Amino acid sequence: MKRNVTIKNGELQLGGVPASALAAEYGTPLYVMEEETVRRNMRAFRSSMEEFYGEGLVCYASKAFCCKEIYRIADQEGLGADVVSLGELYTAKCAGFPMEKVCFHGNNKSEEELRAALEYGVGRIVADSLSELARLSRLAGEMGRKAPVLLRIKPGIDAHTHDFIRTGQIDSKFGLALETGEAMEGVREALALPNLSLRGVHCHIGSQIFQVEPFVEAARVMMEFLGDVKEETGAELADLNLGGGFGIRYTDADEPVPFGDYMGPVSRAVRETAEKRGLSMPFVLIEPGRSIVGEAGTTLYTTGPVKEIPGVRSYLAVDGGMGDNPRYILYQAKYDMLPACRADEPADRVYTVAGKCCESGDLLGENVPLPEMKEGELLAVLSTGAYNYSMASRYNRRGVPPVVMVKDGASRLIVRGESLEDLVQNDL
Ligand code: LLP
Repeated sequence: MKRNVTIKNGELQLGGVPASALAAEYGTPLYVMEEETVRRNMRAFRSSMEEFYGEGLVCYASKAFCCKEIYRIADQEGLGADVVSLGELYTAKCAGFPMEKVCFHGNNKSEEELRAALEYGVGRIVADSLSELARLSRLAGEMGRKAPVLLRIKPGIDAHTHDFIRTGQIDSKFGLALETGEAMEGVREALALPNLSLRGVHCHIGSQIFQVEPFVEAARVMMEFLGDVKEETGAELADLNLGGGFGIRYTDADEPVPFGDYMGPVSRAVRETAEKRGLSMPFVLIEPGRSIVGEAGTTLYTTGPVKEIPGVRSYLAVDGGMGDNPRYILYQAKYDMLPACRADEPADRVYTVAGKCCESGDLLGENVPLPEMKEGELLAVLSTGAYNYSMASRYNRRGVPPVVMVKDGASRLIVRGESLEDLVQNDL
């Protein structure tokens, strides 16, 4: 395995805490987040923004992992935040997150959501359609506010990633298309509507992307568009939000690109196009989610029965599954796994790791290399920090597991696990 994991006396250590100690204290399944990794990633993005643009704002895409503590950490590290629902916005507000550093997304924001964004003083509302512009202007007027707006643009970039997480191409539910003239129409509308202040444009081409070129191309296309906007309307827009999507390592097959290797070529494209089109350098924002929290997370499970089906496969059951990690079912996402207390043993078997939901497709992986496994062991699934807890469900009335943060040999609970009482609390 190419990734860095810390193993002491054969046992996986997370933030300096032995995995078995975490399981003993909090039970399994358990989401574990390593704070130093989160902070290191946040700092790396910030410092590469400073290096390549001098200024700018890194907005943590909180859909990847959302709870109060992650907003507090993002704030302490000087980041902004991308939110995409009233729930995320409210969580950020409850955590005391500075609202002027929030970008509010969504392809179908409700009036309640837009009103909350205006009332809370969100810094940038990313409008996704022409009708939303009109709605936003009306609401802002009613509330005596001016709405700060970015326009979501489809740059027409086809990034190579799973179909469900591609967003930059014309056939996408998000944003306004350049090719059809809809994007320019959006700009004209936003400039003309009385209660909007158009700050700039936004794009996001997809997620878990390993190539640099689609990002460079998107930046170029967006800058050309800002050039067209200036030519056609006379307005020079300040903000260029280039979204997130940087790929991370789930298994050895993944080769993540260091942040600087994206930022360098992208910033050159922005600068060159600015010069070519006679524009000032824009204020650049980016929205990394997965690349900040993904590799910081590990999920610990206790193994259940092993079923060897001769000539077919060997099933290894765990005490969690699609409820806490739906990514195998949704995207056939692959994860590295380790027996946490025998973490240095050679993986000379393969298992189908099955969850405990009443559903045959409830798997966490197939052909997963592991040593021979027994019932009652601790299994660690690595790189689960992004889109696991945040996409968890209560299928089969299983509560969402707790999340602990680990750092310097100590652990603290940051999200309580759902109890049986929690599961019935809204039932009437
Ligand atoms: N900005 C916008 C507007 C986005 O839509 C997203 C992700 C991001 C930023 C952050 O992208 P990241 O840096 O995390 O790749 N549930 C899927 C991923 C969906 C991503 C949706 N949007 C998964 O588990 O792979």
